[in-house]
Amino acid sequence: MENNDVPFDLIEKASEIIVKSGYVVVLTGSGISAESGIPTFRGKHGLWKRYRPEQLATPEGFAVNPKLVWEWYNWRINLVLNAEPNAGHIALSELEKMNIVKSIITQNVDDLHERAGSRNIIKLHGNILEARCIRCDYKMKIQKPFRDLPPKCPVCKNLLRPNVVWFNEPIPMDVLNRAYEEIERSDCLLVIGTSGVVMPAGAFPSIVKRNGGKVIEVNVDETHISWIADITLRGEAGKILPVIVEKVKKYLK
Ligand code: OAD
Repeated sequence: MENNDVPFDLIEKASEIIVKSGYVVVLTGSGISAESGIPTFRGKHGLWKRYRPEQLATPEGFAVNPKLVWEWYNWRINLVLNAEPNAGHIALSELEKMNIVKSIITQNVDDLHERAGSRNIIKLHGNILEARCIRCDYKMKIQKPFRDLPPKCPVCKNLLRPNVVWFNEPIPMDVLNRAYEEIERSDCLLVIGTSGVVMPAGAFPSIVKRNGGKVIEVNVDETHISWIADITLRGEAGKILPVIVEKVKKYLK
């Protein structure tokens, strides 16, 4: 999409809603990191077109072949370590610094929101740059892909696993509670780059609507969220969000 395709009047309306809201919360999915070169999960070029989630992103798949799972994670860890936050991530951190955005709930396991300068981030699906022991409490930060696969816990010698939430696994209770608290407080939810098909995040927009809040979607395509959104901004997050920041700044002047 060229810059002149950006839906300026809708962005104007969305920015007005954002400025007039008391508690703006952001929900992001893999689409916000797409412009940083990190592949999304669904759609034409999505990871789940090329890889099988049950083999690579479930506890059962890990039990069958931990080395295969770690090979895939090593590849993705490398992608994340070499990626940079894009204009979309940076725009959201600016909105937080302006005290407009109160928190970001992300389904992403990369660290691009953090590196863009956002502070109040709730990582629903964990952190790809951490590993934890499958038995003891050992947890470590990952600064480069592992050399020997599958990696072992230095304390108890059991297997290390990525510190992420896989399919068939619950989101840690404290993380989930924080996310629901933010959603219940929110009177405006910005939903960016998610297909909205994975629960519980996919249900957050309807909770905000039920509570009388507004939902603004930023996505290149129509999604499961689009029908419920008050405004859908069709386009790339990295093009739309910086324009929102400019409009919000003008309103605040
Ligand atoms: P999906 O791959 O399901 O959706 C990505 C969304 O981003 C799609 O709706 C795209 O249209 C949109 N998109 C792509 N590029 C974009 C751009 N530049 N700007 C704006 N939107 C863009 O990814 P998620 O919704 O994040 O979970 O998927 C949710 C969860 O499913 C993931 O966290 C992961 C996956 O399986 C686990 O692994 C447990």
